[in-house]
Amino acid sequence: MLDTISKSFFHALAASGSLKSLASKYGMRHHASFARRFIAGETLDEAIAACREIQSRGLLLTLDQLGESVTSLSEASAATRGYLGIVERVVASGIERNLSLKLTQLGLALDKASTVDNLRRILDVAQRSDFFVRIDMEDSPHVDATLDVFETAWNLGYKNVGVVLQSMLHRSEKDLARVNALGARVRLVKGAYKEPKSVAFQNKHEVDEAFVRMMRTLLAEGTYPAIATHDVKMLDATKAFAAQRGIGKDKYEFQMLYGIRRDLQAGLMAEGYRMRVYVPFGREWFPYFMRRLGERPANVGFVLKGLIADR
Ligand code: FDA
Repeated sequence: MLDTISKSFFHALAASGSLKSLASKYGMRHHASFARRFIAGETLDEAIAACREIQSRGLLLTLDQLGESVTSLSEASAATRGYLGIVERVVASGIERNLSLKLTQLGLALDKASTVDNLRRILDVAQRSDFFVRIDMEDSPHVDATLDVFETAWNLGYKNVGVVLQSMLHRSEKDLARVNALGARVRLVKGAYKEPKSVAFQNKHEVDEAFVRMMRTLLAEGTYPAIATHDVKMLDATKAFAAQRGIGKDKYEFQMLYGIRRDLQAGLMAEGYRMRVYVPFGREWFPYFMRRLGERPANVGFVLKGLIADR
């Protein structure tokens, strides 16, 4: 019960535009250093330093500039230019060339055609520099449009792009068949958004069962899938299925979020699995941070401790 309340509470905070802008204005450095457990910093320099440290431990990475739901096409263009700058800086820094982005940051909620144009601008330079670009999946009202834009890009010949599917949504197994038919890469997650029961499983057991079904389909029929979870049961089910089918450790990868279950990250790597860390950075850290708090009420205690220590 408490879990459900706290989840809803943090999802409401994550969606609050005014809190988001307040948090961006205040900055993370002095006023919310506890957020740094989950966010690699506000600047690209800080994120690149974090990426170097991650790489030095033998882990793979994907870099995400935080930001979502822009409210004008000029903001979407600015975000697109931001990504072009990131591509250049990543190339110069020598860290791994792998980005994650959200389409509402490129204008998805405003205009699909402009979003396709913005995405193409990013994919063009990314392709030339041998980047892989993952399109994150957002809440259910954006799923159709996200898949449409992704498929449009794929059919235009961009093969350096993949998408995310959420096991909590009833529709996702059908979407998986659609993406597998293209031969595109999927990152499988449980889903980070608060969704109504008309579209999503409401209890963990059902979300987990769907995750295992989708993981099996992906490993058996998909293209280099990414199994993104910190759940030991999901990790064990994946390892067991791969071993049973004789699927090599180079045919798929595990992914986890920056700052979460570093013990599991290191353990999987030591066992010879590919392990990629999702590294978020930027001033727009508030909604991402709230979703992480909502996932695990124990994190709230951690934040409170941080607040006291900050005083
Ligand atoms: P679950 O929530 O059942 O947690 C299992 C265990 O993991 C917990 O018991 C705890 O030990 C640990 N854990 C999980 N979350 C934690 C937290 N916040 N703090 C501390 N410990 C925690 N979602 C989405 O909707 N769209 C997307 O594009 C993405 N992208 C994405 C990329 C990557 C690389 C990852 C790992 C995850 C995402 N997600 C996502 C988030 C995902 O949907 C989901 O919300 C989180 O991964 C938490 O779910 P778990 O699978 O870890 O299981």
